[in-house]
Order: sequence, then C-alpha cells, then structure tokens
Amino acid sequence: MRSSWRECKSGRLFAVLSEENILMKVFISRKISDAGLNYLKEAGLEISEWTEKRDLLPDELIQHCKNADALLSAGGNKIDRPFLQAVRHLKVISLHSVGYDNVDVAAATEMKMPIGNTPGVLSDATADIALLLMLATSRKAFYMSRMIPQGGWGFSEPTANLGIEIRGKTLGIFGLGKIGFEMAKRAVAAFGMKIIYHNRGHHDEAEKELQAEWVSFDELLERSDVLSVHTALTAETKGKFDRNVFKKMKLSAIFINTARGSIHNETDLTEALEKKIIWGAGLDVTNPEPMRPDHPLLFMANVCVLPHIGSATEETRAAMSLLAAKNIVAGLKGERLPFIVNPDVYA
Ligand code: DGY
Repeated sequence: MRSSWRECKSGRLFAVLSEENILMKVFISRKISDAGLNYLKEAGLEISEWTEKRDLLPDELIQHCKNADALLSAGGNKIDRPFLQAVRHLKVISLHSVGYDNVDVAAATEMKMPIGNTPGVLSDATADIALLLMLATSRKAFYMSRMIPQGGWGFSEPTANLGIEIRGKTLGIFGLGKIGFEMAKRAVAAFGMKIIYHNRGHHDEAEKELQAEWVSFDELLERSDVLSVHTALTAETKGKFDRNVFKKMKLSAIFINTARGSIHNETDLTEALEKKIIWGAGLDVTNPEPMRPDHPLLFMANVCVLPHIGSATEETRAAMSLLAAKNIVAGLKGERLPFIVNPDVYA
C-alpha cells in the first residue's frame, strides 16, 4: 500500500488515502493524552486504542497491529525480533517513552523499521521525582507519613526517627545525560551539593556550569553521599548495582534510581539496606514492575518507593504524546522521524 499526502492552506495535514482509498490506521496500545490524539486525528488518521486496564498479550498486540499501518506503543510492550517479524508491514513504531530497552534495536534496523521515542520533554519531571525521592528518603518521609494513620504520632524522643541532611553533601550521578543534568542543577541550586559523575565521556556543560567532576565508577561509589542513577538500561548497566557495588558505598549513602529497575539487583539492595551496608534508598523504578505489595522494601523507614511516575505530569505526558504522534505522522509520510532511536534505517 503506498500513501501520499497533501497539505491544505491552514497547514493542517490530510491523509490522502492509499491507492485502494483506505485510511491509514494507527494502533495505540494504551490511553494517551489528548494532545497526541488530536494531532493524529488532525492528520486524518484512523485511530484504534486499547482502553482495557491491562497490558496486551504479545499475540493480541500482533493481531491489533495486523489491522494498522503504524503502532504507537505506550507501556513496556516487547518489541523483539519475533514481534518485529510479525508486524513487518508497519511503516513506523513510535514509543511513548524516552527509554527503548524493550526494543531489539538491531533487529528493527535490520528490518528497516523506524523506531521513534520521546527524549527531552520528560527530563524536568523525572529530575523532580529524583529530587523528591532524595529528600523524602533522607527524612524518612514516606514511612513517617504512613505512621500517622496507624496511630504512630505519639510520644517522640529527641533521638527518634532522625533523618540526615542533604545540604553541602556530595551527589554522585551515574549517567549524566539530560535527566541527570537537570537533577544535578536542582541539587546544586537547592542544597549546594557537590556534583561528581561517572559517564563514558565528559559532560562539558555540567563541568562548566556546576563544577561537576568526572570520576571513575569506584570513586563514584566511595565518595557519593547520594548516588542517583540516570543511565539507560543496556547490557552494560543491567544489574550493575549489586551486592559488591553496594559494599563499596558509604554506610551513610542513599541510593536513588529513577531510570530502570533492572539496573539494580533488588535482592542485593534489600539485603544492603537490611544489613545497614547503605543508609537508604529512593526508587521510582523496581524490578519487576509492579513491585509486589508485600515487598520488604515497602516497609523500611529509610526507603521511599514510587510506582514509576517520573514523567507522570499533565504537561509532560501531553508533550510525550505529541512527540510520539509526530513520529507516527512522519513515519507514515515516509519522512525521517523527528526523534529516532535507529537512524541507521535511513543509511
Ligand atoms: C521513559 O520515558 O522511559 C519513562 O520511564 C516513562 O515511562
């Protein structure tokens, strides 16, 4: 099926139908914000949305894609080689996320399937959550709040339930990219923290603006009072924070992860907290997700856990849906996606 497009005077796009006069179709795997939906509608696309409150099974996703020209994938749908083989007719797959660890990028590139993502627009919201977790963990805030409805706001000794202060401490960032930089800026502005970081390369802007210091991974572990993870999940970072790594951190350290749960080993993290090898942890991502409701981490005073809400604001989710929709329209027009994970498809 070949598609062509024309643009009317208002600049609004109209899908000019395939030679068979069929509307181009987009399947959306979870409910997304109106901003993206409206963009797709204005482009004259036929939209089909999965609205049930459960994830599609892989076969169900394939069946829905069979009737579509493009997939807007929200959630962690596995875009692996078998899936890609089954949906080779799609013109574009657009992720409603910046992360693409659920995608076999090499297979997609080999099959010339453009994969879009949504970088940049969620950096502020995610950094806000990292900052929130750092502060909440340091003051045992979630635990103390949980105590109130249980009748725990009673007699309090001056030495009970003490937190630790963040001001002037050292924040270590593992993976200083867009989100890590926003977190570092907030930590410097709000708490005068010293920033150290470990990346493959140097982040010149952070070094210039924040006097951030590049350090080896071991030095990051040894010097960080708070260690915040902002890297992508890759073969290299999977399970990186395990028992041996936690042992190299300060006894007073706080571990924050707002990136992907699989970057830490959750059993080892639980043990490190139980044995007081590190002081506390703040997590917006767990492994697996959702975390089971009786997980021991949920009951520890020095741990704050959130259900992966880093990008969950009205503004950010609207911006993400719009970028994802723009990637869809570009892909259906046969144009380069504005935000592409695998630019080699155009090589
Ligand atoms: C992302 O975009 O990768 C965030 O984790 C949102 O789910």
